[in-house]
Amino acid sequence: MLLQVDEGIASVDQLLDRVVHTDVGLLQESSLHIIRAGGKRLRPRVVFLSHLAAGGNDISSVVPLAAAVELVHTATLVHDDINDHSPTRRGRVAVHARWGRTFALLTGDYLFTKVYEMMAPYGPEFNVTMADACVKLVEGETLQAAAAKAGAIDQPTYKRIVTLKTASLFRAGAIMGAQLANGSEKVVEALGNFGKYLGVAFQIVDDVLDVIGDPDTLGKPVGNDMNQGSGAILAQNGRKYTDGSGPGDGEADPIATMMAQLKESGAVEIALIEAREMASKALAGLKNVPESPATEELASLVDQVLERQN
Ligand code: IPE
Ligand code: IPE
Ligand code: MG
Ligand code: MG
Repeated sequence: MLLQVDEGIASVDQLLDRVVHTDVGLLQESSLHIIRAGGKRLRPRVVFLSHLAAGGNDISSVVPLAAAVELVHTATLVHDDINDHSPTRRGRVAVHARWGRTFALLTGDYLFTKVYEMMAPYGPEFNVTMADACVKLVEGETLQAAAAKAGAIDQPTYKRIVTLKTASLFRAGAIMGAQLANGSEKVVEALGNFGKYLGVAFQIVDDVLDVIGDPDTLGKPVGNDMNQGSGAILAQNGRKYTDGSGPGDGEADPIATMMAQLKESGAVEIALIEAREMASKALAGLKNVPESPATEELASLVDQVLERQN
């Protein structure tokens, strides 16, 4: 089964490579730059495993769907790096840092548009599910930018942002994978919940890695999300448990000072407790799916997400 999924991921990579074909050299180059930079391909893996867990056995029919989910994710990374002023991605220079904002916006647009093409054969129901996830993603990124601008975020807002911007795509991927296997309503919903909570845990861990991770391993900078709406919750929690002064004074690099304070503050531990809670909810979702090697593999993804270093 694992072999099947790994082959599916290899097919996704091949398809992504093929699909971004255009006579406009710059667009092709910038698209391949981000696609070929790799990435964990976690979302297509969830799509495949959800399909298998719901009783499906034809991975090849799921490849374009899984590739479309990865393409949505990839497009959002290109745009997100513009918004977050982030210079590196997947161990490479970010698209906007190499080609500039205009071409990065257009590269993201191009990748998003290719999603239509790949999704078309799946029909209206799947397309609506995908569109709904994309809308939620944009809503989440918008709320995050607004929170960053306002300089304030509370726990419920953080949860809302993370659920929208990250969990929605995991959830949609799991739902569509299961629906393509003609899974029962109960199983589809259970796998959707699994995807949702896996996604929330994934983002919390991402925000923790922004504080304690290694940029070389991550392939992206650290200290970047702290002042954005998302990672800011950690920063705020951190301040509660320190002296309330926020980022440093004097000559020290304010981001480095803030990261040091955060590591001391217990905010990381609080976030990790929350991530583990979300992970338990993901596993609870799996209880309503008949046990199989695929559900075991989904359960082990939860551990991987909690323990990930990249
Ligand atoms: C990064 O996602 C964006 C977040 C939702 C935190 P990934 O960490 O899955 O990115 P890649 O695809 O592996 O590069
Ligand atoms: C996730 O948020 C971004 C999207 C869902 C598009 P982050 O801003 O934390 O992601 P990274 O850290 O840049 O990968
Ligand atoms: Mg970012
Ligand atoms: Mg991040």
